[in-house]
Amino acid sequence: MIDLKSSVAFISGTSRGLGQSLALQFLDQGADVIGIGRTSTIEHSNYQHVFSDLSDLEQIQSFTFKGYADHQSVILINNSGRLGKVAPFQELEEDDIVKTSVLNFIAPILLIKKFLDLQCNESTTKYVLNVGTGAAFQAIDGWSMYCSSKAGLSMFSNVIHLESQLDRAKCKIVDLAPGIMDTQMQKEIRDSEPSDFSNVEKFVDYKKDGDLQTADQTAELIIRNFEKLFNKNTASDTIRNYT
Ligand SMILES: NC(=O)c1ccc[n+]([C@@H]2O[C@H](COP(=O)([O-])OP(=O)(O)OC[C@H]3O[C@@H](n4cnc5c(N)ncnc54)[C@H](OP(=O)(O)O)[C@@H]3O)[C@@H](O)[C@H]2O)c1
Repeated sequence: MIDLKSSVAFISGTSRGLGQSLALQFLDQGADVIGIGRTSTIEHSNYQHVFSDLSDLEQIQSFTFKGYADHQSVILINNSGRLGKVAPFQELEEDDIVKTSVLNFIAPILLIKKFLDLQCNESTTKYVLNVGTGAAFQAIDGWSMYCSSKAGLSMFSNVIHLESQLDRAKCKIVDLAPGIMDTQMQKEIRDSEPSDFSNVEKFVDYKKDGDLQTADQTAELIIRNFEKLFNKNTASDTIRNYT
């Protein structure tokens, strides 16, 4: 059983939404938290923030994991994500394509590489939680780079999971779809035009019908089931499997 009091969690995108809820709940349970992102909104004695734009390769490359090697559990949560412009692929700007690909796919991979290099005690367990999405497994018009970058991250997570089973990667890893949450990302989806995204009305209805979970509820489920998330035969999972 993970003891959060002797854990440190590195979490990207703690300024709002799911990342902020996770950071606050980890802090409540006594963990140390290092947030990574462009904006800091959390004030807590056990919280530190590393300012970094994770859609910028140079800034990712200059990030280093330091200290905390003697904690019982060291956790990396790749939560930062962007939908990018919602529009048919041919209408996307190259800059938008690159930013979505780097933030959702390359940044988590480079952070995992550095995280695995972090020297820890023999007894320390490393956990990697990549925040995935059902959209990684289903083609959605207007979301080409979001679906494909998250699909890439999901496959990457499964390869690392396999390597860890062969004792060639020293971590536990999961790619977890968090379900639909009432965050800024959902607002961006609802604000899109039907000519750019044919199913926009469905997402407007989710909000109207009260079908969205709060980020706090999702974070609570993740933390309550934390250890269980990593004991599966596959890295791909959804929070819908947990209560
Ligand atoms: N909301 C949903 O229904 C839903 C469903 C499935 C999956 N997800 C996934 O859940 C995760 C969290 O999403 P959310 O709904 O909480 O979204 P959100 O409210 O839009 O929050 C996104 C977070 O990502 C960070 N971020 C964005 N661009 C960044 C950049 N260039 N560098 C570093 N950090 C950046 C933001 O921080 P800064 O802007 O301060 O940098 C923010 O804290 C994402 O990976 C998303 O794909 C969400």
